[in-house]
Amino acid sequence: MDKRDHHRVYKKEKTLRINSHNHKIKSITHKMAPNENYEVAERIESLVTQSMVFEDNEDFDQAFNNMVTAIEMIDSIIISAEKNNIYPESELNKFKNRKREYMDYARTLKRKQDERSRQSQTIRTGGDKGGKSNKFKSKAEQLLVSKESLESPYTLSLDEIVGHNQAKRDVKLAFEGPIKRPDLYGPKSTTPPNSILLYGPPGNGKTVLAKALSKDLDVNFMHVRISDIHGSLLGDSEKQLAAIFEVARENYPTIMFIDEIDGIMSARSDHTSEVERRTKNVFLSEMEGFNKDPSKQVYFIFATNNQKSLDIAFMSRIKKKIEVGDPSDKDREDLFKLEFNRRSEVKFDKKVSPETLGKLTTGMSGRDINTITENTVNEVYNDFMDSKDAENLNKQPRKIVLKDFEKQIRKVQIANEINNSSNEVI
Ligand SMILES: Nc1ncnc2c1ncn2[C@@H]1O[C@H](COP(=O)(O)OP(=O)(O)OP(=O)(O)O)[C@@H](O)[C@H]1O
Ligand SMILES: [Mg+2]
Repeated sequence: MDKRDHHRVYKKEKTLRINSHNHKIKSITHKMAPNENYEVAERIESLVTQSMVFEDNEDFDQAFNNMVTAIEMIDSIIISAEKNNIYPESELNKFKNRKREYMDYARTLKRKQDERSRQSQTIRTGGDKGGKSNKFKSKAEQLLVSKESLESPYTLSLDEIVGHNQAKRDVKLAFEGPIKRPDLYGPKSTTPPNSILLYGPPGNGKTVLAKALSKDLDVNFMHVRISDIHGSLLGDSEKQLAAIFEVARENYPTIMFIDEIDGIMSARSDHTSEVERRTKNVFLSEMEGFNKDPSKQVYFIFATNNQKSLDIAFMSRIKKKIEVGDPSDKDREDLFKLEFNRRSEVKFDKKVSPETLGKLTTGMSGRDINTITENTVNEVYNDFMDSKDAENLNKQPRKIVLKDFEKQIRKVQIANEINNSSNEVI
């Protein structure tokens, strides 16, 4: 059998497997509540089948999104079945098993999705294939966000950021003095911190905090991800890094925000390659260089989700370490308020209050809340745009009700569940 035959057989087996899943789902749901659930089963069936087609076409994002919707639907069948207590245990277990299988499949897709994004980052930062040597410089320039463009109302200021009151005070205190009055901070004075570390779980405002600080202090901002530094050819990473520092120096005062710092400064020294070691050293010595020349006014904010893995030599050079944790109950309510204020044109039902939504999203991040609101609004708007009413300027999309939000909240919960469990597997 050649490769293509293998692929055909694999595809066929997969289709058979899924068809038998769907057949079982149909027969189970048919017994439960013939009309309504039959439609749900059909929809689940088509989502899973589409998902596999997307997988074959290597569109893992879409395949994953479909599976999240499918899981959300099968989940709602399980929840309503449990609540109404209408099914025998054995029938209910069939659904639960099905859900587990779907979760497994979604995890596989998640891994493929992650793998794909890692690959595309390497391609994006690929080696200098005979191009001009200043390509490093022009790439570094693309990472610069000028203080003028930070003035846009789309960039939050520190006081618009929800919660993190201590962190907001600390970041401001760390840089405000030396940026506003550099004359008071000569090389011999007590050295002001030129570097801070923000650490905490994803999606809770490390990036927005660094950007807001740059806006409030009226300085340029450079957003560097470690994946922007890694190159595929030997020596590329160092050249890229040097170009980034050069651009920062030329545009001072600048806050350089270096994201995913554990990708380069982790302590796993026995696995560190020669290239990584060299990049690490360039980094440490450049940081020292800035320390010695206060007139250059380049400040560093590092960010990580994984501060425990960081190198000791690196950590000892950081003057202040600030935690940016999960939002509190009140913060989640305020995050929804922020999302609503950003969408003043959208009509929400009275029952959709930030307070209620805050309570329904325990354990979720600011990014989750942003995603939930965006997807809820988009879904209602897309339905409207697909309908004939969209042509009529007197018609408006319907009000957004709590149920619309609950559906998207569930989807984010499922995606987080899959994400957490695939991190555990790794
Ligand atoms: N405290 C907050 N105040 C206002 N918006 C927030 C807050 N936390 C999160 N957000 C929203 O969530 C989005 C993601 O936040 P951000 O990018 O700052 O997270 P992060 O901590 O940098 O995450 P990661 O570790 O994944 O890089 C922001 O664009 C913003 O919409
Ligand atoms: Mg970030």
